[in-house]
Amino acid sequence: MPPSISPSVSRSTTRADSLNARTTYERIAFLYDFLDAPYEIAWKRPLRRRVFEGLQGAILDAGVGTGCNFAAYPPGVKASGCDASSAMLERARARAAKYAQPVELRCSDLTRLDWPDDTFDGIVATFVFACIEDHEQAAALSELRRVCKPNGEIRIVDYRLSPRRLVRTRQKLMSAWLNGTFAATYTPKTEDYFDAAGLDVIDETFIRSDVLKMIRLRPRG
Ligand SMILES: C[S@@+](CC[C@H](N)C(=O)[O-])C[C@H]1O[C@@H](n2cnc3c(N)ncnc32)[C@H](O)[C@@H]1O
Repeated sequence: MPPSISPSVSRSTTRADSLNARTTYERIAFLYDFLDAPYEIAWKRPLRRRVFEGLQGAILDAGVGTGCNFAAYPPGVKASGCDASSAMLERARARAAKYAQPVELRCSDLTRLDWPDDTFDGIVATFVFACIEDHEQAAALSELRRVCKPNGEIRIVDYRLSPRRLVRTRQKLMSAWLNGTFAATYTPKTEDYFDAAGLDVIDETFIRSDVLKMIRLRPRG
């Protein structure tokens, strides 16, 4: 099935953008864990546990990357993960082999997931929507809503620009690196598309200072 494309965006633009995000992660997959290690060790690990806290049943790690969330899955869940990059998934598969808890991994783009409707009790996307182009955000959110059970929950975690001038200036200086290396931005407009995607916000919390936000959502009833 082709990706959902907003009427104002040409097909060729959408393809080029998707290709850009995909090729970025194909290219950096072998370096990803190395580049992220300082952050992973310093603060990401404990936060990942907090992000998955309380989730049960069938869960989807959307944009699973190299599988950095695996250790944070609550015991007993039926875990699945997907990513658009086969190189990132290859590393996730190698990591999954070291865990007792099995994880089903699929190469699948968030804008066209290949799971049936109402599959998951919980869906988590960490540091993923900041990599998705504006014109694909609504399609990706709609897909998460589609595969989420009516009483399920979706959690999205991403950076935001700090209101503090010094931190914000540093983030702006780092934007070119973030964009060039990880195809990501500090200013994703994900919130703008919740309504169109049929999602209601349960709550929004900054889980690291004022720069990392977790948004909990549920499908509109
Ligand atoms: C910054 S990494 C984060 C990986 C992981 N969630 C983590 O917390 O370490 C972003 C991941 O999102 C994936 N991604 C970006 N756009 C995607 C899309 N449209 N569909 C599926 N995966 C996507 C990338 O391939 C990459 O693996």
